Amino acid sequence: MTAPLVIAIDGPTAAGKGTLARGLAERLGLRHLDSGMLYRATAARLLAEGGDPADADAAAACARALDPRDLDRDNLRQEAVGKAASKVAAYPDVRQALLAFQRAFAGEPPGAVIDGRDIGTVVCPDATVKFFVTADQDARVERRYLELKERDAGVDRDRVAADLAARDHQDTERATAPLRRAEDAILFDTSAMDADQALEAALTLVDQRLNP
Ligand code: DC
Repeated sequence: MTAPLVIAIDGPTAAGKGTLARGLAERLGLRHLDSGMLYRATAARLLAEGGDPADADAAAACARALDPRDLDRDNLRQEAVGKAASKVAAYPDVRQALLAFQRAFAGEPPGAVIDGRDIGTVVCPDATVKFFVTADQDARVERRYLELKERDAGVDRDRVAADLAARDHQDTERATAPLRRAEDAILFDTSAMDADQALEAALTLVDQRLNP
């Protein structure tokens, strides 16, 4: 039996990893998991219960109790939930509670594309191909700004830039599974690429890894 093909995609907020992961999964016939949604669902459940993201035990209890309906909550993409997600993602017990699900997802044939912060380093260190997706700060702020503006015309660009920097700091500096490039990950800079260009370039790199 051939081992499942696993593609790990890590990188900071708004670098383009989600779009790339979805595209790769579709083109390669693999399943896709946006692991950030697990942290967002944990945070949303906690907030819905009136809990405090500063309470590590309450956050871990929510992560352990997570059920599929939590992933259907309609507020998961909201900034407030994203901020709380970044906070609860720093707790080791929360990360531990979400690990088995992610590994099981990766292990099912024919394989998966999983995007997040620690997929290539912690969740799937043996992934077939790893990407570390980046883009320069201005490009990421612009992308996030345009995305938020679609929902809220009054969104402030400086605020978006400050929030992005704060999220980067939190995700990179935490002690457990911080965002960092795995040694064997391909550094993939999308600053000068649109989504289609990034997808085609990534497909070529995957092909090169699979057929050296
Ligand atoms: O990718 P995102 O913005 O939806 O993720 C929300 C938060 O979850 C992010 O700030 C960091 C955290 N996260 C994580 O710690 N590890 C992952 N594998 C995915 C997300």
